[in-house]
Amino acid sequence: MQNARTDKPLLRVLAGERVSVPPIWLMRQAGRYLPEYRRIREEAESFLSLCFNPRLAAEVTLQPIRRFAFDAAIVFSDILVVPHALGQRVRFEVGEGPRLDALSEPDALQRLRPTIDHAALAPVYETIAQVKSQLPLAVALVGFCGAPWTVATYMIAGRGTADQLPARLFAYQHPRAFAELIERLVDASSAYLAGQFEAGADAVQIFDTWAGILPDEEFRKWCTEPVARIVATVRSRIPEARIIGFPRGAGTRLERYLAAVPVDAIGLDWMVDLSFAREHLQKQRPIQGNLDPLALLAGGDTLDRAVDAILDAFAEGPFIFNLGHGVLPETPVAHVEQLVARVRRA
Ligand code: CP3
Repeated sequence: MQNARTDKPLLRVLAGERVSVPPIWLMRQAGRYLPEYRRIREEAESFLSLCFNPRLAAEVTLQPIRRFAFDAAIVFSDILVVPHALGQRVRFEVGEGPRLDALSEPDALQRLRPTIDHAALAPVYETIAQVKSQLPLAVALVGFCGAPWTVATYMIAGRGTADQLPARLFAYQHPRAFAELIERLVDASSAYLAGQFEAGADAVQIFDTWAGILPDEEFRKWCTEPVARIVATVRSRIPEARIIGFPRGAGTRLERYLAAVPVDAIGLDWMVDLSFAREHLQKQRPIQGNLDPLALLAGGDTLDRAVDAILDAFAEGPFIFNLGHGVLPETPVAHVEQLVARVRRA
């Protein structure tokens, strides 16, 4: 019998091993830069109906695996399915991003469900099961959720904003209500991640896209502590759960994140200093990252040089190649091919 875990390079790295050719996958590897995605997207009525259609979502998840033979597939969904499953109205306007019914005052929390509606998330679990049955043995299946702070920023503002001012102000003005919202997201996200593991995910990533904009004390209260509680709760149900944390923009606080949150690996954005990451982070935990998505968009020598700098810095330790944030929709497919070949020295 082959061991499913050791057959997957990504899981070997998450267990702390250095793999000579680093495994590679990309955040937002399924998406608008792929013509085959755009075709399926046209078939679906809305972005959320695509996320909740297991046949189409599984197809879209597998598209980048077929094209680029990545080492991991990430289930096609969105972090905002959690507010949806807590009873908040969520929709995506084409060209404008997400729109939610904003929780602008503490009483609005009463309109949310106390616990997550697993029936609303059943299509995501079904997508995971369908992808799992079609995935090559060496390819890991990654599930995900948003971290409570990042999800809360969208729930409170009702949309994406540049500096998350509405959520930061709400947290100062209504600390008790905000703590309650974060707590509810901790419970909901833990249950959702455990459900993804039970459906067949090999690992999960917790996206904290807005971790970097908080002051010190709030970083601890709203980022590291809640995510640490999620990790503990998921592991109490799934002891072997492999979890990647991605606190974007955390900078030198990445060390504190690692000290406070027992994730198996840490995802780095493109702004992180490479020698700092090698000396202070990779010695403690496997790392993942951190190519600038704009270097991928630019291509050519710029891309080759940026890839080589990252490999030079990180390839001697446990390392997963990824971007520092998601693939941009304008990215040429040929540049992704160039990137994969360069990382694999093919
Ligand atoms: O990585 C993958 O391939 C898996 C799918 C995935 C999506 N969103 C699909 C998506 C993942 C992991 C996410 C995470 C996500 N969603 C985050 C955290 C990571 C990050 O990018 O910061 C956040 C903040 C969201 C919320 C969200 N979803 C926003 C702000 C937007 C609008 C911006 C945009 O790119 O349009 C979305 C929409 C979205 N999520 C799209 C995709 C492919 C584009 C919608 C479409 O194709 O019509």
